[in-house]
Order: sequence, then structure tokens, then C-alpha cells
Amino acid sequence: MFSADTYMKRRELLQEKLSSGLVLLPGNGETPMNYPANPYFFCQDSTFLYFFGINKPDLYGVIDLDSGVDSLFGTDLTIDDVIWMGTQPSVKELAEKVGVNDTGELSELSKTLSRAQKENRKIHFLAPYRTETLLKLADWLCLDYKNINGSTSVELIESIVTLRSRKSAEELAQIEAALAISANMYNQAMRALKPGIVESELVGLMEGVVGANNSHISFPTILSVHGEILHNHFHGNIMNAGDLLVIDSGAKSPEHYASDITRTLPVSGTFSIKQKEIYQIVLDAQMSAIDAIKPGATYRSIHLFVSETIAKGLTALGIMKGDPREAVRAGAHALFFPHGLGHMLGLDVHDMENFGENYVGYDKGVTRSEQFGLAYLRLARALETGFVLTVEPGIYFIPALIDKWEQEKKHTQFIQYEKLREYRDFGGIRIEDDLVVTESGSRVLGTPIPKTIEELENILG
Ligand code: GLY
Ligand code: MN
Repeated sequence: MFSADTYMKRRELLQEKLSSGLVLLPGNGETPMNYPANPYFFCQDSTFLYFFGINKPDLYGVIDLDSGVDSLFGTDLTIDDVIWMGTQPSVKELAEKVGVNDTGELSELSKTLSRAQKENRKIHFLAPYRTETLLKLADWLCLDYKNINGSTSVELIESIVTLRSRKSAEELAQIEAALAISANMYNQAMRALKPGIVESELVGLMEGVVGANNSHISFPTILSVHGEILHNHFHGNIMNAGDLLVIDSGAKSPEHYASDITRTLPVSGTFSIKQKEIYQIVLDAQMSAIDAIKPGATYRSIHLFVSETIAKGLTALGIMKGDPREAVRAGAHALFFPHGLGHMLGLDVHDMENFGENYVGYDKGVTRSEQFGLAYLRLARALETGFVLTVEPGIYFIPALIDKWEQEKKHTQFIQYEKLREYRDFGGIRIEDDLVVTESGSRVLGTPIPKTIEELENILG
């Protein structure tokens, strides 16, 4: 936990941004796997963590914008709970750690909320992403659970996005702590990689590093010789010489900040000529994106510039044709690069995505495109100092998409479908790092993890 001052300051800044009423910030509860006493690992709500810092279930924060009082509601454990869980701090003791003096029994919360509603005070809350929270909010606020999102507070969302988007020095240190675990994960995976083993063996090794650091993964590990499947969570393939392995993984820091790193490795230890050619295009695209990142630049413009680098590279190999700029304008490159260049990173791996991507990654200056590929940008807006984001271009050969486009004769002026047949079983390549936008440009966070062809072949060979 950070010091109480950090949380008090964050709540104060939120109060300054909002006019009146109550802010209700529910923490998460335990989620059962198959019966209530057998839960998944506990994952606290990130906004609750940001303002109230406590990583325990069933706590609810309330910020009274009119009186300036912050409160924490929860239920102390009974002796029966203590027998199973050991002695735990009381709600009052937990509250003191984050600078909250007012606490209440959970049953008091609904009364506080009804009283405020009777007085016609606004209750600001965010769209719930867990059904349990949704049902509780609907019950407490007498709202129809089906339409609850219509009553969420845009003012609250926008204020929190402003605060959480710019990372402080202590938040950056946390992201770098998560990245130190990532560096170790990749180091172990690179040492163990060899033809003939199953993907799950590497997953076990990498997630073992996470566990040994008393951490948790920040999202389900993607580790596959079918890197063309963007979020591939199947880990049952045997890795053969000649395969390319995409590993996209992350860990959590002690204060629950995420890392998110992708590397693509040749299973045999060396890249084939064809693999080298595509790999180098992706690496050049990633490095040029990192160079272009600076405050004021829109991430959409950097995405488009990277798309052009990719289209140029594929044109040089005869997979695409025509003017790369025109090809990108038409959206033809999205056959190979159908996702966005990156996303915000923080307490969540896709930071604040639960608020809705348009509130986080877009602003009045940049609205979402409807073009295939460009429409998937999670982050498109102008960058600001202190934003932490991922830079993760990729090139993928997705047989189902290639077939569909070819049948539809899509972008035939830019795509050499004949030549593309040679790449049908190529798989995919993605390279991802995390960085902070600085006043003069950007800084890649964490210990460098090898990514040039030479570095990788040296280690893997
Ligand atoms: N690391 C997974 C993703 O960014 O979607
Ligand atoms: Mn990512």
C-alpha cells in the first residue's frame, strides 16, 4: 500500500473535479469458481484501489462531495471467519491506513444512499462490470438492473480518467517492479525454449516466476506457435523447429500495477530468412513508433505511420503492392495488422477499459474510425506527459481472413494474393514494450528484454 497521503491526495483531487453529491466506489467481492468457499484469486477493483488502496473483498468507498468526508463501509470478521482466515484488521484499522476516518457497517451503506436519494443528491457511480456489483447497485439505488448504465456518471468517468491517466513517480516505480518480474519470466522462457516441448511447459515456467515473486499474472498468458491468433489461450501445441512462438504476458507489482510484454521467438534458436524479413519489419515499426511518441502527438497518427512502415516492408517483399500510403488510407494493411498499436497501462493491463474505450483512448479531438482495423484502436487520442502505454505492432497471416478478403476481391490493387500463398502458414509476429510519455518524448520502462534478431539468436542459439 502507498502512504495514506497518496490516497488522501487522490480523493482530494477527485473532489476538486466534481461538483456535488456522493461518489460511490464499490470494491470487488470474491468470485466463486464452483462454490462460494472456493474462489478464484481475488482481484480488487482498480478504481477502488486507486482511491482507497485496500486489497480486501467487500469494501465500499464513499466520497461526500458536499461535506468533504470520505467513508469506508464493510463488515468486520466474526470469530467463525477468524478460525478459517486468521485474525484480520478491522474495517476501521484498514481505513486508517488510507487516511479515512469515517467507517460504517455494510448494512449502513444502503441507508446512506437512500437518504441521499431522498434529499435529491446525485450519486455518482461507474458502470459495473461484475454482475454481483450490478445487482447490488440496482438494489441500493432502486434502479432497473437492465438499464443501470444509463445512470452512470460521465462526470465521474472523465474525472477519474484524467487522474489515472497521468502516472506519478511512485506508480511508474510499481510498473517497473512488474516489469522486473516480466524480464525474469522472459529470461527463463528463452533459456528453456527448445523444439519438442509443449507450450504449456513454458507457460508453467513463466507463471512459476510470477508465483515465486508473490505476484499474479496481469492477464491470461498468451503463448502460442499460432501467433496469428491474437489472443490465443490454448497452450497444448508441441513447439517444433521452424515455428515462431509469440509470448504476450504480464505480471502485477506489489501494489497491483501491470506489465505487458510481447516477444516472438524462433523455436529452433535461429530465424529463417523469411522469418527474419518479417520480424525486422515489425521491429523497425516498433522502434520508429517509440521514436515518434511525444506529448501532443495523437496515437492514431503514430498508428497510421507504423501501418505505413508495415505496408512499405510488405510491399518490398512483394506481399503488398502500390503506394503504401494509399494502401494504408484504404485500410489494406489491416489484413496483416488488424489491431491498434497499443493501449494505456496502469492498474489494469488495458487501463480503465471498464469505463469504455472511448472515454480513455479518445477525446474531442479524435473520434473512432469505422474502418476495419482502425476501428479497433484502443488508444487514439493525443498523448500527454505521464501517460503509460504499450507499443505493440504486429504482422499476422490469418488464413481465414486472407481467404475471406481474397474471395471478396478486397483491396486487390494493394495485396498480392498469389505471393501471399507462400506465407499462409507463417503464423504471426508481435513485439511489445511499455513506456511512459515524457516531456521530451518517451522512456521505455523496465529492464530491457532482448528483441533484436542478433540478441535473440545469441541467447536462443
Ligand atoms: N496483452 C494483451 C493485450 O494487450 O491485449
Ligand atoms: Mn498489450
